[in-house]
Amino acid sequence: MMDIGVVGAGAMGNGIAQVAAQSGHTVYVYDTRAEALEGARKKLVSILNRLVEKGRMEQGEADAVAGRVHYVDHLQGLKSVGLVIEAIIENLDAKKSVFENLEKVVSEDAILASNTSSLSIASISSAVQKPERVIGIHFFNPAPLMPLVEIVPSLMTDRKVTQTSVELIDSWKKVTVVAKDTPGFIVNRVARPFYSESIKMYEEGVADPATIDHALKSVGGFRMGPFELTDLIGHDVNYVVTETVWEAFFYDPRFKPSISQKRLMEGKMLGRKTGRGWFDYREGAEKPEPNNNTALHREIADRVIAMLINEAADAVLMGIASAKDIDLAMTKGVNYPKGLLAWADDIGIDTVLGRLESLFEEYGDDRYRPCVLLKRMAKAGENFFKD
Ligand SMILES: NC(=O)c1ccc[n+]([C@@H]2O[C@H](COP(=O)([O-])OP(=O)(O)OC[C@H]3O[C@@H](n4cnc5c(N)ncnc54)[C@H](O)[C@@H]3O)[C@@H](O)[C@H]2O)c1
Repeated sequence: MMDIGVVGAGAMGNGIAQVAAQSGHTVYVYDTRAEALEGARKKLVSILNRLVEKGRMEQGEADAVAGRVHYVDHLQGLKSVGLVIEAIIENLDAKKSVFENLEKVVSEDAILASNTSSLSIASISSAVQKPERVIGIHFFNPAPLMPLVEIVPSLMTDRKVTQTSVELIDSWKKVTVVAKDTPGFIVNRVARPFYSESIKMYEEGVADPATIDHALKSVGGFRMGPFELTDLIGHDVNYVVTETVWEAFFYDPRFKPSISQKRLMEGKMLGRKTGRGWFDYREGAEKPEPNNNTALHREIADRVIAMLINEAADAVLMGIASAKDIDLAMTKGVNYPKGLLAWADDIGIDTVLGRLESLFEEYGDDRYRPCVLLKRMAKAGENFFKD
């Protein structure tokens, strides 16, 4: 069984190291900060202890898992690994420098992977001599709990590297989907309207955040509404992903960020972690009650779901991944109640198209332009999955 290297002992690096160690690998974790390594070691022990307390793991197994993870304060410590997953800060120059140095340390055939959420794999691989061994292996937070992993080969990645990566991560009992090296890959691209269309409706005065959240949960079946979810993720993180995807799509209006969320970020009202975001989480604050107008709930949910389906259809059209994998990604990566394309079949492609066309006509904004694939399918009477 190959040794695994992890660079970056932050939230993601630690989670990935835990997953690999639980799957039986010896893991070497490197970070530039000694305190990050020490913190990571303590955190892993406390997580494993909790699993033992809850009866989900035997003490012997927990000890074995902890014993398989080694924390190293120099990159040389990763020389035996067959795969390195980099999970340092989201900064291209910093990542390129790590990859350049890693190539000097590991063996000729070791795979070099990045957990980046928003940088292109092509740009990271430009730092190395053998770009064919560089790939994106994108876990979701928290890595030990979220089943989805997006595998992202660049234009230069060797097919065998993709195949080995898929097989390996499948063996870690994760659900893998292969995605094209395009902004946001699958999940961070397709999910954008869940946030942005909801915030736009709030900005337009269609409804308040509590009502929009309620609509998407009660009618849409989503586990969390977009306002409570972005308050949980943090507006610094969620806003930056939106802005990065928008810029990377050459400012396509479909991905345009929201001013009101930018203001929350600027004002450090980052959500739960700072006590205030869309909602107030401070001591004694009460959560506002949603408006109970069920017709309004349906109007809200129909609009957001149509926009999400439009984005998922566009991802199929652009060959980002198969329809099946796009549905799998949204259910396993962000817990959507149903795959968006299967949902489109259930609602009816022509009904979804009709909703988009009326928004497009009303607003005259390219943001609402219906995906050409939906138009073709509606004309031909086709579905994504149904016969
Ligand atoms: N947090 C998420 O929800 C999430 C989800 C998926 C992917 N990602 C991606 O995973 C990566 C890591 O995110 P995170 O949330 O774990 O970050 P984090 O800030 O929690 O951890 C980053 C760690 O990298 C270390 N580091 C920085 N520069 C380094 C270097 N040159 N060499 C070695 N270590 C270095 C830091 O000391 C820190 O411990 C990013 O690329 C991010 O986009 C994050």
